[in-house]
Amino acid sequence: MKKNFDLLIRNASIVDGTNAPRFNGDIGIRGDRIECIGDLSSFCGDLELNLGGRIAAPGFIDSHTHDDRMMLSNPDMAPKVSQGVTTVIGGNCGVSLAPMPRPIPNPVTPPLNLLDEQGTWFHFPTFKSYLEELRANPAATNCAMLVGHTTLRVATMNDFSQAASPSEIQAMRELVNEAMHAGAIGVSTGLFYEPSIAAPTEEVIEVCSSLKKFNGLYCTHMRNEADRVIDSLEESFRIGREVGVPVVISHHKVAEPANQGRSVETLALIEKNMATQTICLDCYPYTASSTILSADRAATSTRVIVSWSQSLPEYAGQDLTAIAQKMNCSQEEAVKRLLPAGAIYFKMDEADVQRILKFDQTMIGSDGLPHDTSPHPRLWGSFPRVLGHYGRLLGLFPLETAVYKMTGLTAKNFGLKDRGILREGAYADLTLFDADTVDEAATFAAPIAPARGIEAVIVNGAIVWRDGKSTGARPGRVLQREPSEET
Ligand code: ZN
Ligand code: CU
Repeated sequence: MKKNFDLLIRNASIVDGTNAPRFNGDIGIRGDRIECIGDLSSFCGDLELNLGGRIAAPGFIDSHTHDDRMMLSNPDMAPKVSQGVTTVIGGNCGVSLAPMPRPIPNPVTPPLNLLDEQGTWFHFPTFKSYLEELRANPAATNCAMLVGHTTLRVATMNDFSQAASPSEIQAMRELVNEAMHAGAIGVSTGLFYEPSIAAPTEEVIEVCSSLKKFNGLYCTHMRNEADRVIDSLEESFRIGREVGVPVVISHHKVAEPANQGRSVETLALIEKNMATQTICLDCYPYTASSTILSADRAATSTRVIVSWSQSLPEYAGQDLTAIAQKMNCSQEEAVKRLLPAGAIYFKMDEADVQRILKFDQTMIGSDGLPHDTSPHPRLWGSFPRVLGHYGRLLGLFPLETAVYKMTGLTAKNFGLKDRGILREGAYADLTLFDADTVDEAATFAAPIAPARGIEAVIVNGAIVWRDGKSTGARPGRVLQREPSEET
């Protein structure tokens, strides 16, 4: 008797997410799981997709996002599903939408304004209430969420220019415990950013002290990614060791022209410490970073593009030098007039970016900023750019390795069970694409554009993106971190 699958994908070249060589086969999906992989030519499906030899891979996991609010305000998640992403890790860089047990300052304390300039979305008093909202109104993608230390500081402290007092640390610790109980996967910090710069290492260790008990992890936008990048790595490793949890070095880079080439040093140090503690890292495939606008950051960049401005929105997408010229003032003065604002900073070296991307243990994370008027193209383009530009065109790694860096490796590091892999019994999160054409379409000049070559994207067995558009399906789930079976 013919077995009927809900969805049958025929003639796929299967890249399974483990870094193993691709193989040909069919994939039978029933409900939210992959039921069979192999020669299914004698079976049929309620819906069938014939790939004609094109690629079926696990859905990509975006290891570094700021999608906390987009999950709710734009639940089709078009910037993500259009590039094949089926799961996002949110709450990074110390910035999470929850919890906010008291009114958020007005104007919203930067960099929390990256999530919402107006502040109206910061209305979840507990992490539990936020996750309940995500479950009640699911998005197209799955998510796993971190609680941000900068959010906790804004929620509990009145003066960010100093270390937290014992009672403030206690208040933050209680919020961490509540978040971890509710289903957060760990804590993120943004020690680079003004509201957290004054936090000493010991404060972070104390705020994170219960993470081990909850099997959480520690993700960090380090204090410094330029001249003091080595000190910052050592600080991050120390926090991981003292708290007793894995460390994720977010968007690893060496910034500023004076530090060109130093990824040789940083990767060697990371590799050395990996021998004695769990360290993970992610990277986005561009030489430009993006965050809030500041005159200091602009001064150490070779080019600056304004990505949004609350006071002068018409300047979004333009170079800061051109804006200063039009205003007939200095760059510093232009920055003052534009604030609060966001910017894209060119301050990395291509060879460093390639060296970090190529490093065995590097995951791909977009760090996309979904609410910017003229966002860094990483928001729409990171994953296809790694597959196309860096994989196919520059030959940085084989397709299987590129896929592994966005699926199997990421699922293992974040403890996302039965995700990031194509095998019988795993969740049916898949991306179907053409290896010969896949690439980003987004550019710095025109950053909002769905990628090329992505044919269909499936989340928990439901098609969320097909033929260049969202299908309207919203099968996303809130994922939790499961203890790793490996030792
Ligand atoms: Zn960051
Ligand atoms: Cu980030």
